[in-house]
Amino acid sequence: MPKINLGIIFGGISTEHDVSVASGQAVVEHINREKYNVFPTYIDKDGKWYEYKNLETESENEVCIEVYEKYEIKNIVKYLRKLDMVFPVLHGKYGEDGSIQGMLEMFNIPYVGNKVLASSIAMDKVYTKFIIEKAGIKQAKYIYIKYENGKYKYVENDFEEQEIELNKFSKNVKKELRFPMFVKPANYGSSVGITKAKNMKQLIEAIKLAGKLDKKILIEENIVGKEIECAVIGTKEIKASCAGQIIPADDFYTYDAKYKNNKSKLVIPANIDCEEEVKEIAIKAFNAIDGHGLARVDFFVTANNEIYLNEINTMPGFTTSSMFPKLWEASGISFTEILDIIIEDSINIYTQ
Ligand SMILES: Nc1ncnc2c1ncn2[C@@H]1O[C@H](COP(=O)(O)OP(=O)(O)O)[C@@H](O)[C@H]1O
Ligand SMILES: [Mg+2]
Repeated sequence: MPKINLGIIFGGISTEHDVSVASGQAVVEHINREKYNVFPTYIDKDGKWYEYKNLETESENEVCIEVYEKYEIKNIVKYLRKLDMVFPVLHGKYGEDGSIQGMLEMFNIPYVGNKVLASSIAMDKVYTKFIIEKAGIKQAKYIYIKYENGKYKYVENDFEEQEIELNKFSKNVKKELRFPMFVKPANYGSSVGITKAKNMKQLIEAIKLAGKLDKKILIEENIVGKEIECAVIGTKEIKASCAGQIIPADDFYTYDAKYKNNKSKLVIPANIDCEEEVKEIAIKAFNAIDGHGLARVDFFVTANNEIYLNEINTMPGFTTSSMFPKLWEASGISFTEILDIIIEDSINIYTQ
């Protein structure tokens, strides 16, 4: 078999740029070079694209993206068309939300992983709620509000909107959800803009903060339980990994607890009695959003084994210490093998 020319795209303009660089670097390091000619491709924070001239010939495990010379790609489409396939290892806006996937579709460039629809549903925490509800999967109770043209609006189940005044609204919220509550901008990741609001004052501040980032805002009840994650792969035949548990170093899994505080722990496999059920729900949720290729599905599991779905990540973290590769390792599949399986599966979509 001839080698596959594979572009690995990382960086990007989202708040998760640095995480994506770390993920991209780990993928470049672990990819099987017997099968793939690797074309590392970097997008900077302003959206400029770069290629690395000599990096593809380097041996495994010796890659440090920062030190290699890179050259700006002037004609991105022409560059992408030289490749057999691209792997967008991008998180957040324009990378995980269906945007780059749409661009690749338009130019007929095969790519790894989730398509436009699954990417954009899973990126949007409000629309994920609607689909998960439809699938009959348990999730935290929520309230959906919007912030548009300086006004806050409550969005009802039938999408009718009612203008609200924050002080009054916050008092009413108390009738539906108890403190603490989670306030989230709909389209972010890495816990950016998320607050655990413990009282009315914090709730109002949290809504204002989320409203600065996104016009869609989600307010959720607090679920007390273990944070459990499960990885899924495949398209026609979907497989789930064992479950892992996150023990955040903070009050919840904040940005710092995720990337800065090394006291956060991953426990793999998770110590829960309902692992099989978690796996089944992970696969069901992945199907519900029309998933392709891979995802990490995140849950809360309460003391009496109630399973709440929290979110679906269509391009999970891919660093060597990330949950996704670690879950597969614990399931007997190495980082290099899991990359290979995911890429092969995506190739099959285009060749069948
Ligand atoms: N409803 C909830 N109940 C309890 N903890 C929550 C809830 N929602 C979010 N969290 C905490 O906040 C973290 C980040 O929220 P999440 O919805 O996963 O956003 P992100 O996409 O930024 O990771 C979670 O990992 C968890 O620690
Ligand atoms: Mg999360």
